Amino acid sequence: MAPAPETDRIEKLLDRMTLAEQVSLMSGEDFWNLPAIERLGIGALRVTDGPNGARGGGSFVDGVRSAAFPTGIALGATWNPELVERIGAALAEETRDKGARVLLGPTINLQRGPLNGRNFECYSEDPVLTAELAVAYVTGLQSRGVAATLKHFAANESEIRRTVNSSDVDERTLRELYLLPFERAVRQAGAWAVMSAYNRVNGIHAADHRWLLTEVLRQDWGFDGVVMSDWFGLHSTVEGAVAGLDLEMPGPPIQRGEKLIAAVENGQVPRDTVRAAARNVLRLLQRTGGLDDLTSRREVENERPATRALIREAAAEAMVLLKNNGALPLPEGVRVAVIGPNARTARIMGGGSAQLNAYRRVSVWDGLAEALGGERLTFAPGCDNHRFQPVLEGKFRCEWFDNQSLSGEPIHIEPVSKIDRMMDAMPDGIDPLRHSCRISGSFTTPEAGRWRFGLHATGRARLSLDGEVVVEAWEGWRRGRTYFEEGCDPVTAERDLAAGQRLGLVFEFATKPTYNLHFHAFQAGAGRVSGAPEIEAAAEIAARADLTLVCVGRSAEWDTEGWDLPDMRLPGAQDALVEAVAARARRVIVLLQTGGPVEMPWLDSVDAVMQAWYPGQEAGDAIADVLTGRRGPGGRLPQSFPARLTDAPTMIGDDSVYPGRDGHVSYAEGLEIGYRHHAARDIAPLFPFGFGLDYTGFEIGAPALETRGNGHVTVRVPVTNIGERPGNEVVQVYVAPAPAPLPRPKFELKGFAKLALAPGEAGIAEIALGPRDFAYFNSTVQRWQIEAGNYELRIGASAQQFSSVINVELNADTWAVDSSRSCPGAWCS
Ligand code: BGC
Repeated sequence: MAPAPETDRIEKLLDRMTLAEQVSLMSGEDFWNLPAIERLGIGALRVTDGPNGARGGGSFVDGVRSAAFPTGIALGATWNPELVERIGAALAEETRDKGARVLLGPTINLQRGPLNGRNFECYSEDPVLTAELAVAYVTGLQSRGVAATLKHFAANESEIRRTVNSSDVDERTLRELYLLPFERAVRQAGAWAVMSAYNRVNGIHAADHRWLLTEVLRQDWGFDGVVMSDWFGLHSTVEGAVAGLDLEMPGPPIQRGEKLIAAVENGQVPRDTVRAAARNVLRLLQRTGGLDDLTSRREVENERPATRALIREAAAEAMVLLKNNGALPLPEGVRVAVIGPNARTARIMGGGSAQLNAYRRVSVWDGLAEALGGERLTFAPGCDNHRFQPVLEGKFRCEWFDNQSLSGEPIHIEPVSKIDRMMDAMPDGIDPLRHSCRISGSFTTPEAGRWRFGLHATGRARLSLDGEVVVEAWEGWRRGRTYFEEGCDPVTAERDLAAGQRLGLVFEFATKPTYNLHFHAFQAGAGRVSGAPEIEAAAEIAARADLTLVCVGRSAEWDTEGWDLPDMRLPGAQDALVEAVAARARRVIVLLQTGGPVEMPWLDSVDAVMQAWYPGQEAGDAIADVLTGRRGPGGRLPQSFPARLTDAPTMIGDDSVYPGRDGHVSYAEGLEIGYRHHAARDIAPLFPFGFGLDYTGFEIGAPALETRGNGHVTVRVPVTNIGERPGNEVVQVYVAPAPAPLPRPKFELKGFAKLALAPGEAGIAEIALGPRDFAYFNSTVQRWQIEAGNYELRIGASAQQFSSVINVELNADTWAVDSSRSCPGAWCS
């Protein structure tokens, strides 16, 4: 049979390419682009972060603006693949606006514990929920010709020493938990790209891992796309290439280029390996329409009303109502005290490579003022929740030096409006990795009081006021946990200042050698220190209102790539603020915005708690929609909320399990993460996985079971909205296994269906399961296995609340990892 014309075309191009040209496609040219091969008319492939928007190639802070969608955990909380598919399609348009063909997302690692700095970026602790949403996201994105990049493959569940630590995980746990979302996004949605993780897996860097990249990904699952390294995550020339890592990112090449050509010429890397990698890149170009496109595309801003509406809808569908003593929805005509550090500052996304310069950032205050009228609202911050001091802004002058010691004449001088840079474009003549700069201007205190000045930077930095060095990480610079472990920990100093005091300000920065990620960044800030008087002022305002909304949580400074959280508490004095306000207010609603679970010591003192996560650029409007009842709180927890940190699966008092010891993180808890852990150890969570209240009520009827051969079953569950408002119910099906020779979790989520029902409306939740939903992986014989016996299907509205149980009797069955039967039921029948 003749090859398909597109395959033929690629083979002919490969035949015409020199070795150097093929190798050139195996590394980036710069941070976000691959090289073009003009001689052959082959266009350049551009990629962009990812995953909650398309940032484009510029600054993380000030780049070309783009739409900010809800973060991963918020999408996880929607439990709505149809919605996530629409988001995928909208993200394709965003990616095209930035001239790119590949979006670096979704992030589909699992929430193994509650402290991972990227917890916010992941969908869920559960592999099936993650997989369903990943399939939807990839399907939506790729339906518009933009490639998804599944990341980070694999076992990348912590940010601590992420480029060196080894995640030590047994194969069964990998196959049943951590690999499953990748497997389904490849087999079911046909993902076109995968990004290898920074970490090592069982001692081998993920980018060099032949078992992961070739045996599992390509041979077992049939992946035919591109595997790229995480940024600077490739540490070898030969191992990575022969393991199946197609593309080193970013460029210019560090491990490849001339080095790889030499390795081919001396026989260490087969020519066929290079040809296969180049073929994969050409195929990706072809799939995304870039093979013949030699035009260089500009990044544009293009804010779409339909995208704004979608973001607002998704944000409301992600909100989880955790407690409600009748305080919500807000009654008509109510006067609301809006309190807390997250009230007037919009918290729309997490930090790190997922951040972008959003078209807008609607705060809770703005959203509520729009919905209720500003005259009904009063405000007090109560306290702050900074990790870093607020960025210093003003009319500053920046002098750039082409050396690392601020010496000689500056080679460029420009005005700047803030002391905050990350991956911004450099002035001509300035080497991004070897330079220094001085920013000068003045700082005028808006209020009298104690002021805290702070800075953090990837190089030496110091801040002077009126000629005196106030904060310094110059001589004292130590590697810490900012800027992806390239920066120092924040250094701060305090000064008592009068109102209106004008101080001369000088900030200096000088680069030094980097460790893994070769970039530079810095930030300096100042904030007034708050304490008991501010909390008292907030309580006073609360006492005068009908109802108080306390907006607490974290921010992108805390929930960020590059570090893990120190604990599971609200930062700063926020717990004290909630307690103080609750003691004085008539009714208190806590609006939480975090990227994961937090302890809630004040839970019994408040009337309602709503978790809004980081819901994207329309945050405040979506929050107002739900608070006022314009929309229901559509979300369910995608992650268990333990009552205290020590109840979490990774916090069992063994540092080899978390955060790791001697370069190894032992996934000794195996399959028992999230609700599996709570069930196995009989530890009640504060709020269980799958939980969420609504403004209406539902009656879940008796399920009907249809069996279609061994392991193929469909469950149909009647659901009626018995309340007076429209709402959503998520019917969840957990499988409790028959006895097996290997221990199995007590029960596991295997399917779910979300129904939107009007008052009085009835619907049927239909959930199809297949053989994989009953099987476990037996690594000794390398097969999936079903034990004969009785399996329970537990049907409910959370991992703790089952409304009915049905029994399914199965015969024994077994099949190999590369069998098409190994895909879960609904997609393999
Ligand atoms: C992150 C990736 C990201 C890449 C490019 C890395 O630090 O781990 O998720 O896509 O940078 O920004």
